[in-house]
Amino acid sequence: MHYSALLLAAFPSAVLSAVHLVDVGESGLTFSPSTFTAKKGDTVVFHLYASHDVAQGTFDKPCTPLSGGFYSGPFSGTDSGNKKFVVNVTSEDPVYFYCSVGKHCANGMVGGMNLPTGDKGIEAFAAAAKSATSSTPSGLSGGKLETDQELAALTASASASASASGSASKSASAASGSASPSAGVSGSSKPSGSAAATTPAASGSAAASAAPKSTGAADALVAGQGYGVAAAMFGVAAWFL
Ligand SMILES: *[C@@H]1O[C@H](CO)[C@@H](O)[C@H](O)[C@H]1NC(C)=O
Repeated sequence: MHYSALLLAAFPSAVLSAVHLVDVGESGLTFSPSTFTAKKGDTVVFHLYASHDVAQGTFDKPCTPLSGGFYSGPFSGTDSGNKKFVVNVTSEDPVYFYCSVGKHCANGMVGGMNLPTGDKGIEAFAAAAKSATSSTPSGLSGGKLETDQELAALTASASASASASGSASKSASAASGSASPSAGVSGSSKPSGSAAATTPAASGSAAASAAPKSTGAADALVAGQGYGVAAAMFGVAAWFL
C-alpha cells in the first residue's frame, strides 16, 4: 500500500524509469513493499522510520552486509528520517536487503528487489535470516541521502512523468508540512512551456492543494508537443510520510 512507482516517461514513447518507494519500519519490522521488481535505470527511495536502517545483504549470509553493497547509515544519520536513502538500480540481478538494527533482521525485517520465487525467494530469505546474527556496515555507501526537495528536483530533471498510482491525495498529504516535496514533479498540467517555470511556488501545506489531480495527465502528455523531456511535466509524486 505504501508503495508507489512513479513512472517517468519521455516523449514520445517509452517509459524510461521508475522510482520505487520503500517504507522502512513504518509499521513494525517491515519493509513495505518487502519485494518489488525494478529495471536498470530505476531509482529506489528508502524512507526510514525510527529507528531503522537498510543494508544490502546476500542470500547466503542473511543479515551480513554485502561487500560493496549499499547501506543507508544509521537512522540518526538520515536527519531522523527526513532524508531519504536513494539507490540507483544498476542491474536486474536479485538484491537482498535487511535492517541491521538489533535483531530486526532475524525477526523478519528483510526485503528484496528482483528476487526469484522459490528457494531463493523472500520467504526463504526470511527463514534463513532467523538464525542469523546481524552486523552493521561501517558507514553510508552505495546511495545518497536526499531531502524531499532534492528528490523532487532529481525526478523533475530526469524526465516528464506520469503517475502510476494515480493518487493525488497521497501526494497532497505528503506535501504538507515541508517546503514542497512534490511541487517539482507534480508541476503543471499545461501541455507546453517550462514545467519548472509553471510549477506553483507552493509552501507549507499550500502545496497539498496545489497538487493537481493525476487524472488527465496522460492526455496532457499526449497533448504536449516536442519540447523534449523538460518541456512538459506531469504526474504526481507520492512521497508518503
Ligand atoms: C544515481 O544516478 C544519478 C544520475 O545518473 C547520479 O547523479 C547519482 O549520483 C547516482 N547516485 C549514486 C548513489 O550513484
